Amino acid sequence: MSVMRRALLAGSQSVWLRERAMRYGFVRRSVSRFMPGERMDDALEACRRLQAEGAGTIVTRLGENLTSAAEAESVTDHYREVLQRIDDSKLNTQISVKLTQLGLDLDRELCLRNLMALAEQASRLGNFVWIDMEATPYVDPTLDLFRRAIDRWPNVGVCLQAYLYRSAADLESLLPLGPAIRLVKGAYMEPPELAYPRKRDVDANFYALSARLLGEDARRRGARCAIGTHDPRLVERLQDLITRTGVPRETFEFEMLYGIQRGLQSRLIRGGWPLRVLISYGEYWFPWYMRRLAERPANVTFILRSMVAR
Ligand code: FDA
Repeated sequence: MSVMRRALLAGSQSVWLRERAMRYGFVRRSVSRFMPGERMDDALEACRRLQAEGAGTIVTRLGENLTSAAEAESVTDHYREVLQRIDDSKLNTQISVKLTQLGLDLDRELCLRNLMALAEQASRLGNFVWIDMEATPYVDPTLDLFRRAIDRWPNVGVCLQAYLYRSAADLESLLPLGPAIRLVKGAYMEPPELAYPRKRDVDANFYALSARLLGEDARRRGARCAIGTHDPRLVERLQDLITRTGVPRETFEFEMLYGIQRGLQSRLIRGGWPLRVLISYGEYWFPWYMRRLAERPANVTFILRSMVAR
C-alpha cells in the first residue's frame, strides 16, 4: 500500500481533519465530482438522468458508525422514504446500506430489525437492498445479519471484498443461499495478515471470485454477481468470460460509482451491457470522500486545482 494511500485512509478516520475539511469551499467543490449533491432530491434527479441514458442506479446516504438507536431508526425511516420515492417516480433504483448506519455498533438485534424493515418494504415495492461491507471487524457480523435477512427476504444482497484472504471461503459458504453478491476490491486500510497488500494479487482474486460467481455451478444455485469495479482491464476480461461461457444477462451486472470512469460507463451502456451506478449523497461525506481519494491519489490534484480556482 502506498504511503499516500495509507495517509489518506488514516485521514479518513480523523475527526480533527473532518471538522476542518468539511468547512472549506474548495474541498466541497471537489467532492461534487463524485456526488451530485447532499440531498435525496439531488441523488434521485441524478438517477433520473442516468436512467434516461440507459443505466440503473443505487442510492446510498453517507454516514457510518452512529452512536444512538434513535439515529439508526431515523436512518431507517429515511431509507423507507427513499424506497417510496423511488417507487412513486418509477425509477430503476435500488438502495445500499451500511449496517453501522442501521445500528450495528449499538445492538445487533436492533440493526437486524432495521434491515428487515427495509427488506420487507423493498420486497413489497419489488425493490432490492444491498448491504455494503465495511472494515474487517464488521465482516462476521455483516455476514451473520445477511444470512438471517436472506433467509426471509431474498431481495437482499451483500458485498464481498477481493482484497481479503477470507473472501473466497466466505463466498463458498454463502453460495448455498443462492445470493446476490457485489464483488469489489475493498476500500479500507487492512493489515497484510488479513488482506493482499499487492494490487496485482487483489486483481487476480477479484477475477477468480467473479469467475466462481458467474460460473454454472453458482448460477444453478441462484447466485447473481454484481461486478463492482472501474478497472477497465478486469471489465474487459470479465466481458470476455461472460461472452465465451454464455452467462445469461439476468445473472450479472456491472456496478460503478457516480463520476468515476464515465467513459467506460458510457461504453458499457452503448454496448448493451447491464450497468448500475451507485450514487452517494448526504452531509456526512468526509470519510467516504477520503476513501475515494485513496483509491486514486492522483485525485488529490483535483482538490489542488479547485483550491486554485477559488
Ligand atoms: P482500481 O482501484 O484498480 O481502479 C481502476 C481504475 O478506475 C483506476 O485506474 C482509475 O482510472 C479508476 N478509479 C478507481 N477509483 C477511482 C477514484 N476514486 N477516482 C477516480 N478514478 C478512480 N468498497 C468496500 O470496501 N465496501 C463496499 O461496500 C463497497 N461498495 C462499492 C460499491 C460499488 C458499486 C463500487 C463500484 C465500489 C464499492 N467499493 C466498496 C469500493 C471498492 O472497494 C474500490 O475501492 C473502488 O471501486 C476502486 O477500485 P476499482 O475496482 O475501481 O479498481
